[in-house]
Amino acid sequence: MAYKRIARIVSVGTSVPERIVTNKDLEKLLDTSDEWISTRTGIRQRHLFAPGEDARAYELGGKAARAALSKARCSPLDVDGIICATFSPDYFFPSTACKIQQFIGNTRACAFDVSAACAGFVYALSIADSMIVSGQCRRMLVVGVEITSRTVDWTDRSTCILFGDGAGAVLLEEREDGDKGILATYLKSNGALGDILYLPAFGEHRYMKMNGNEVYKHAVRLMGDATEQCLKKAGLSIENVDLLIPHQANLRIMDAIAKHLNLPRERMVTNLDKYGNTSSASIPLALADAWGDGRVKDGTVAVFTALGGGLAWGSAVVRF
Ligand code: ACO
Repeated sequence: MAYKRIARIVSVGTSVPERIVTNKDLEKLLDTSDEWISTRTGIRQRHLFAPGEDARAYELGGKAARAALSKARCSPLDVDGIICATFSPDYFFPSTACKIQQFIGNTRACAFDVSAACAGFVYALSIADSMIVSGQCRRMLVVGVEITSRTVDWTDRSTCILFGDGAGAVLLEEREDGDKGILATYLKSNGALGDILYLPAFGEHRYMKMNGNEVYKHAVRLMGDATEQCLKKAGLSIENVDLLIPHQANLRIMDAIAKHLNLPRERMVTNLDKYGNTSSASIPLALADAWGDGRVKDGTVAVFTALGGGLAWGSAVVRF
């Protein structure tokens, strides 16, 4: 008998560098203040590799992947697909996903990277979902990893205070006929807005550049819209949402999205006070916190939504 495949998120794992840099620490480096950063962004500290430390994105991502595998009691050898979202890789090639494959000791998966900046995790999740539903893969790791500290200009106080380093990974497994798993995904891009947030690959000034006010404006509108469109695809409405897990860019952006959606604030997961903006790692890091403290239960409906450079944005609706 024919059955309908669905991709289920079975576990999440994370990894962050040990070193914590507080807003107070940044006061010593920049003309800024704890008060300015925390009231404008909600960020109080971030985990960062130390300058000159031999940091590897694939190791950070690989540790998050191992943690997800160990929670699910799954052998690395049973994974047949690895997708990594990152804008701060160790190499243009091999991909970070291939290096993670080597790190975890897997020899049979297909592995590749996705470039969608802060929306990378949602993009990678959506691709993995399609690959499982089409029968291409049965068990996949989706990893978001960023060493943002490599990419920010530490003299530009309007951007460097926002970011943190970290990694998060989810393990997806094929299920037959269930109603628990990824219910819908929705992806969009607008290349015409590429100049409001970008990171050059070559040249002298290889640092992230951002028009903060423009990003803010588009982020609120487009993440709100993607959430509504994706819920519609899943046949659900905002009343059905137990948890909104937005990309942890800025608390004011997240609050404005919840308000736009008419979602009670307590249903939104926030942890950027601890990690700052970790780009493609922020959603799995927030999911891990919510899962860890019991907010993700059997049947919980969660929406992930993110926007990043491209512009690229999107959402995913998941039932746990
Ligand atoms: N400390 C102290 N003062 C600062 C700092 C700082 N770190 N950074 C900027 N300022 C100053 C500015 O120089 C300016 O001073 P002036 O009025 O004398 O010219 C003043 O603060 C106000 O600057 P604005 O840029 O207007 O400040 P705003 O209230 O817009 O906040 C912020 C800036 C926090 C960057 C905001 O625009 C924002 O959050 N934008 C979204 C950006 C974002 O989240 N990007 C993440 C990457 S994309 C993503 O993940 C979705």
